[in-house]
Amino acid sequence: MDGSDPLKHRLNLWLKSEQAMGLPSVPRIEFAPPNPPTESARAKPTPPATPSQRQTAPAKSESPPQGQRQTDWFGAPSAPAPARASTSANAALPVLDTPIAGPVLSRDEKLSALAALDRDEVKGCVKCGLHRTRDKTVFGEGNPDAQICFIGEGPGMNEDASGRPFVGRAGQKLDDMIRGMGMTREDVYICNIVKCRAFMPDINKDRPPSEEETAACTPYLLKQMEIIRPKVIVTLGLPSTRYLLKSKDSMTRMRGNWHAWRGIKVMPTWHPAYVLRNYTEQTRREVWDDLKKVLVELALPIPKRSGKQD
Ligand code: URA
Ligand code: SF4
Repeated sequence: MDGSDPLKHRLNLWLKSEQAMGLPSVPRIEFAPPNPPTESARAKPTPPATPSQRQTAPAKSESPPQGQRQTDWFGAPSAPAPARASTSANAALPVLDTPIAGPVLSRDEKLSALAALDRDEVKGCVKCGLHRTRDKTVFGEGNPDAQICFIGEGPGMNEDASGRPFVGRAGQKLDDMIRGMGMTREDVYICNIVKCRAFMPDINKDRPPSEEETAACTPYLLKQMEIIRPKVIVTLGLPSTRYLLKSKDSMTRMRGNWHAWRGIKVMPTWHPAYVLRNYTEQTRREVWDDLKKVLVELALPIPKRSGKQD
């Protein structure tokens, strides 16, 4: 990297991938590195960070708050604190956070725009290595006029086989959460930051998508959000929360608080798979508290906590 800020380098890569998709709402800007990269730096891109490297990347300008624990890829607390986005990273956020512009589509226009995106771009996509091991792409589903979009990190085995998001055990938990809000899957929209399953073939275990896979795939998510224009996004777990908020913060710090992404309010909460693994009163109450905030924000009735969301 030869002196250039690695964070700015990553932001540049992210912007380029968005721009490569021709999104009109992504501004064409370049962060000038302090020193131009050398030939060798250009020829040899930084290798992708492994999940463990990403989780433990040291904070540049901040030490973690005392007693804070690291979180795993579902956003579960597990070990020492992860790095927080530095002040300089936050300074770049307004540029990346341009509110979604353009006309609001009718329901029918949204339906056909989403169907075209899935049919013409996602289904045959080979933009990252995940296409090699997928059975089906998982575009997302639900109400194109939804006020609420739930965003997870990526399909698992059941989703890969069916082509539908959140249909395994975590999906049943998400259904419970939605039911607890007095709604059904048909009222909301559900999708992921990547559309193909990321897993470790030797042990057939899911893994979080890498930064490169996320960068390759998220232009589809951006288009989905541009078409749907939800009022609130609920991010489920760490990868989708960190991606949208461009933050390295922990779920413990981000969940339960309002954030914004491109003019849309964002409420991060625990991933349903984490809730299943940590089926405590505290975890369930925290999720319910987060979801209640969403209902209040949308002036929707708050059902009594009846166990439906448990
Ligand atoms: N976990 C996710 O994050 N997304 C799915 O679609 C299924 C499980
Ligand atoms: Fe394409 Fe996304 Fe699948 Fe990668 S994960 S092949 S970018 S659809």
